[in-house]
Amino acid sequence: VTGEAGAPRDGAPAGDLLVVRSRRELAGALARAPRPLGLVPTMGWLHAGHRSLVARARAECASVAVSIFVNPRQFGDPADIAQYPRNEARDLAICAEEGVDLVWAPAAEDVYLPGFDTLVSVGSIARPLEGAARPGHFDGVATVVAVLLGLVRPDRAYFGMKDAQQLRVVARMATDLALTTVVACPTVRERDGLAMSSRNVHLSPQERAAAPVLHRALAAGRARWEAGERDAETIRTAVREVVATEPLARLEYVSLADDATLAELRRVDGPALLSLAARFGTTRLIDNLVLG
Ligand code: PAF
Repeated sequence: VTGEAGAPRDGAPAGDLLVVRSRRELAGALARAPRPLGLVPTMGWLHAGHRSLVARARAECASVAVSIFVNPRQFGDPADIAQYPRNEARDLAICAEEGVDLVWAPAAEDVYLPGFDTLVSVGSIARPLEGAARPGHFDGVATVVAVLLGLVRPDRAYFGMKDAQQLRVVARMATDLALTTVVACPTVRERDGLAMSSRNVHLSPQERAAAPVLHRALAAGRARWEAGERDAETIRTAVREVVATEPLARLEYVSLADDATLAELRRVDGPALLSLAARFGTTRLIDNLVLG
């Protein structure tokens, strides 16, 4: 990847990787992109999880586009967006390594045109869990993803299972509005079980050492289910007990919900999503496992 501070001129090729910023340049690049086209929407600070999304897109599509846009409309807290990690030069180098064909890294004005006044609001699946903890978050996600899909028009769009509810919200919207095919990709974890996330960079060394408790707790819940336990509250309690062993973890919620509707369960009789959110200092992490 070439260019000053990793920011090539609009449309300038960087190795085999083309980096575009304006809508006009994007349209020109897309007109030349072989189909099927896969899109990996990101907010940058790429990690092994994003690499796995690109690898899947590479395997299934003739060309792969990555969007890098830190979307202001999905952050409730201005401090959260201010401290969101950014390093475009590093992101472009990773895209080049992974064989991405096209990166679209727009400014906010290229995504939200003057007078932009539309909100895409997905229904019941967006309300519990992260939707309840972060009011407006999924409206912001669904709106920006609708714009990204509308401009890129990919044949497939790739999302990670780590953000389990986001995946379901986006898939619902993409189906309802006939936008694209959403492909769900497995969570990528560090060796100690911590789910890859751009937010992990904010953990202090002590918090980083403590954070794998989340996966251990989910695994304990899954072990109860695998042993035959079907009472949902017993499984939630098993998860809470493991999180409680870690003094640096401040648990926000543990959920065991129907995998399709995200309604909380009393009994686990079919596929279910076991998920949680917890804070380590100022860093809020989420994780999940699917049962069944
Ligand atoms: O998961 C993310 O990185 C973002 O929520 C997404 C899907 C790129 C929308 O801004």
